[in-house]
Amino acid sequence: MPGPERISVLMLEDDPSFGGVVAEELRARGHTVEVTASVADARERVRKGSYDVALLDLHLPDGSGLDVLREISAEELPIEALVLTGHAEVPTALEAMRLGAYDYISKPPVFEELFVLTAKAAEKGRLRRENAALRVRLRRHEPMGGFVTQDPATRQMLATLERAAAAVLPVLIEGETGTGKELLARAVHEHSPRSVFPFVPINCAALPENLIESELFGHERGSFTGAVERKTGLFEVATRGTIFLDEIGELSLPLQSRLLRVLETQEFFRVGGTRPVRVDVRVVSATNRDLHAEIEAGRFRDDLFYRLHGIALRVSPLRERRLDIPLLARHFLDRNANRRMLDPAAIEVLSSYDWPGNVRELEMVISRAAVLSLGATIRPEDLPVEVRPSAAPRVLRTDLTLAEMEREYVRAMLEKNRGHRGRTATALGIDPKTLYNKLQSWGVTEEN
Ligand SMILES: Nc1ncnc2c1ncn2[C@@H]1O[C@H](COP(=O)(O)OP(=O)(O)OP(=O)(O)O)[C@@H](O)[C@H]1O
Ligand SMILES: [Mg+2]
Repeated sequence: MPGPERISVLMLEDDPSFGGVVAEELRARGHTVEVTASVADARERVRKGSYDVALLDLHLPDGSGLDVLREISAEELPIEALVLTGHAEVPTALEAMRLGAYDYISKPPVFEELFVLTAKAAEKGRLRRENAALRVRLRRHEPMGGFVTQDPATRQMLATLERAAAAVLPVLIEGETGTGKELLARAVHEHSPRSVFPFVPINCAALPENLIESELFGHERGSFTGAVERKTGLFEVATRGTIFLDEIGELSLPLQSRLLRVLETQEFFRVGGTRPVRVDVRVVSATNRDLHAEIEAGRFRDDLFYRLHGIALRVSPLRERRLDIPLLARHFLDRNANRRMLDPAAIEVLSSYDWPGNVRELEMVISRAAVLSLGATIRPEDLPVEVRPSAAPRVLRTDLTLAEMEREYVRAMLEKNRGHRGRTATALGIDPKTLYNKLQSWGVTEEN
C-alpha cells in the first residue's frame, strides 16, 4: 500500500476562523490548502485547478456549495467533494450525495473525522483516475474480436492473425489452456470474407470415437443401426464458413488420416454414402499440446500438421505478458457492467501471480471477487488465497537465526511458486542444484 499522500484541498468557507483552523491542521499533515469564500471563485478554481478534494460549505454570501458540486458533476471534473452541513440539513446533505459528493460532515465537525474523510476522498479520486486510465488503455487497444492485449509481441501476433484471416489459408493456434485460442479462432472467422457463413466449432476431445465420423461427415439413412434419417455432418454445416477443430491434438490416428484425405482431396463421403461431397470450408484448429512433440512421439501425423498450419500462431501464457493482467481485470469487470474499482494493491497481487489457468482463471477470479467484495473497491483480501502471496511475515522477523530465516524464506518462495522448484530457484536467484541441496539438507524430499 502506498503511504499517505500529499493531498491538494480547495476549501470553500466564509468563516475565516474555522477555515483557518482546518487549513492549518491539513497543512500540518503535509497537504496543500487553498481557501476561498466565494462560490463564483470556487467554481472557477475547480474548473482550472488541480485539486484532489473540495471541502464545500453550503451557505456563502454569493450562493451555495451545491453550485460548485453541480459544476463538478456536470463537467465530470476529477475532484472528490465533501460537504459541510448544518445540523438540520438532512435534505440538502442527501441532495449533495445525489450530486456525487463523497460524503457530508455536519458542522462543527470532529476534526479527526474530517481528516480521515478527506484522505479517503482523495484515495477514491486516485482509484478513479487509475481505473479511468485503464479504461482509456482498453479503448486504445481496441481488441480484435474482443481479444484484449497491450503486450507488443501479442499485438504483433494479432496483426498477423488479421492478415491471415483475409486469406483462405488454414490457421493453427497453439497455446496453453485458457489463453484465448477459441476467441482468436472466432476472430479469424469474423475478420474473413466468410463471416456471413457459419462458424462451426468442434471439440475433437469431446466427440465419442464411434460417432466422430458421422458427426463430421454425416451419414446416409440406414448406413448403420440407428441411422434412421440422413444426417448432415458438421463439415457440410460449415459450408462456405469456417470449421474450428479445437483440441486437434486429441484426434485419433485413424481420424487424422481421414481428415487429411478430406483436406487434400477437398471432398468427402458421408458414412454409407457413395457420392463425394465437395468441401468448401476454412479450417482453423487449436491445441494446447506441443504438436512437434506429438509428431516425435508418433501420435500426430506430420503431413496433417503441415496441412493445418498454413499459418501457425502461438498465444503466450498470461505470465509472459503481465502487462495484460490489469487491463484484462478491468475488461472483465466492465464487461459485467461492474463499477467496482481495482485497488492498486490488488492489481499488484494479480500481477505477481503465475496464472496456470491463464486468462480463463483470471476471468473467474475477477468474477468471484466482484460478487464477494463488499465495498466499491476490490482489495487483495477479496482475492482467493491461492492467488495471494503466501502469508509470509510482512514484518521482518527478528527472532530467528539466519539459518532458520533462510529456511523460512525458501519455504515461502516454494509455496508462492506452488512447489515448482525450477521457478523457485530462479526467483531466489540460485541454481536449481543449490536449491535441491538445501532442501535435502533440511530433509525435504520429493514427496513433501
Ligand atoms: N485476450 C483476451 N481478452 C479478453 N478475453 C479473453 C482473452 N483471452 C481469453 N479470454 C477469455 O478467457 C476465456 C478463455 O478463453 P478461450 O476459451 O478462448 O481459451 P482457450 O485457449 O480456448 O482455452 P482451452 O485451451 O482451455 O480450450 C474466455 O471467456 C475468453 O473470452
Ligand atoms: Mg478452447
